[in-house]
Amino acid sequence: MEIFVESGRIEEKITELLSLGLFEGEKELTGVAKHIDTLMNGVISDIIKTGDFTAELNQTLLLYTHNKIKPKRLLLVGLGKKGEFNLETVRSVSGKVALQVKNLSLPSYTTLLYGEDFGIPIENLTQALIEGFELALYSFNRFKTEKEKIPKEVKEVTIFVQNNENILFVQKGLAVAKIICKATKLARDISNAPSNDITPQALADIAKSIADKHSLEFEVLERSDMERLGMGGILAVSSGSQQPPKMIIMKYKGREGSSPIILVGKAVTFDSGGISIKPSDKMEDMKYDKSGGAAVIAVMQAIAELNLPLNVIGIIPATENLPSGSAYKPGDIIRHYGGKTTEVISTDAEGRLILADAISYSKNYKPQAIIDIATLTGACVIALGNHASGMLTNNQNLGKKVIDAAELSGEKVWQLPLWKEYLEQIKSGVADLKNLGGRAGGAITAAAFLNEFVGDYPWVHLDIAGTAYTQEGSIEKTYIPKGATGVGVRLLVQLLRNWS
Ligand code: BES
Ligand code: MN
Ligand code: ZN
Repeated sequence: MEIFVESGRIEEKITELLSLGLFEGEKELTGVAKHIDTLMNGVISDIIKTGDFTAELNQTLLLYTHNKIKPKRLLLVGLGKKGEFNLETVRSVSGKVALQVKNLSLPSYTTLLYGEDFGIPIENLTQALIEGFELALYSFNRFKTEKEKIPKEVKEVTIFVQNNENILFVQKGLAVAKIICKATKLARDISNAPSNDITPQALADIAKSIADKHSLEFEVLERSDMERLGMGGILAVSSGSQQPPKMIIMKYKGREGSSPIILVGKAVTFDSGGISIKPSDKMEDMKYDKSGGAAVIAVMQAIAELNLPLNVIGIIPATENLPSGSAYKPGDIIRHYGGKTTEVISTDAEGRLILADAISYSKNYKPQAIIDIATLTGACVIALGNHASGMLTNNQNLGKKVIDAAELSGEKVWQLPLWKEYLEQIKSGVADLKNLGGRAGGAITAAAFLNEFVGDYPWVHLDIAGTAYTQEGSIEKTYIPKGATGVGVRLLVQLLRNWS
């Protein structure tokens, strides 16, 4: 998609379609809306008087301009109430307009920068606008062979700026937004791909090609390395599969001599549950169990393209979780990297076992912070539904940074407590820990398990089981099509951009 930025007289802009945002419940049109209304002989104010178009959020109405102005079509879009306008409004409305344009099979359109005179930083507004249309227009077509049945792509969007002095900031926002959207779409592509396409090896290959392109240091710990290092968690989880496990490590160096921030992403390329096998209903969704790893790979790409002045290491434990004669079993006791032992109660609580090895290993880098992101527990979906990721931390300072980044990026998180009481639920009679703490507080006991491997390093855990892909309880968002959402990419990039 090509994105242009222009300013000048909007009525002179030759374009297939111009989208114009209107606020709900405004008595009088103002600014650009009033200007266009006048040129259009008052048709917009007439429509509003009828009550047919109230400008509630995401309502649209298509008009033909009949040569009154150069844009051929005018798409009115509701911005909702003025007092509720924010960046999420912009993402949502921008996505809505893009989908309408796609429905019309138009190759290009022009959009105004909604809320340009609202006092919101223009870079952020631009970023949200671009996220809206770029992410709404995403679709996963790689396995469709009837290419003519795939809707035509929107190839060009022009952002029309009212105030000339804003152009520089729009350009800045555009540069950032392109990188973030590209990364989000990469994460979606990885996450949407089925497990017969993306095996741990294939995931390592994808990560390697990104690392090569961006001069990241790259390394994969193979099964033999894991055996040498004593990574009993990932070895156990992978033991039922024909596909060898991979511990993928990507290093971005943007700042000499500073200790790294570690991102750990769970990449179970398929989670059948193993011997503790899952019910078959919706089991196909467990291809999404690699979404944390997908997000980390995509974030590594984005921060390299953004040239952030930080050192960041991405660690992605990748494996399948399958039953077989060689699979690990309930009752098995495994020894993690670093020496702690775990009694396996359920082979379906595999995420924490592979993350334990990865988190323990990450301490070798003496990090300034560890952030892990994982589709870890169904319990988190029960607790928070599909509208927020669970956030747990041993460091409220770091937690606050994540909350701030969530606010700006629109990727909601909600903190759950990590009181030491929860640790009691996962103490084992025969090993240091067990991998199941009963049904009560399942998202928290999973985090409490991880916490045992973190030590004193500042750490945040993000449970994205409810947000990584659209599910029964998800509400439709214009810029989040069905399937993988790419959650975590916008959040973590925002966090890292804010870091210093
Ligand atoms: N990958 C699942 C968690 C999950 C559930 C992700 C729903 C996305 C949607 C995880 O490995 C798992 O199976 N967790 C179990 C843990 C239980 C055995 C303690 C769960 O949530 O049921
Ligand atoms: Mn599982
Ligand atoms: Zn899993």
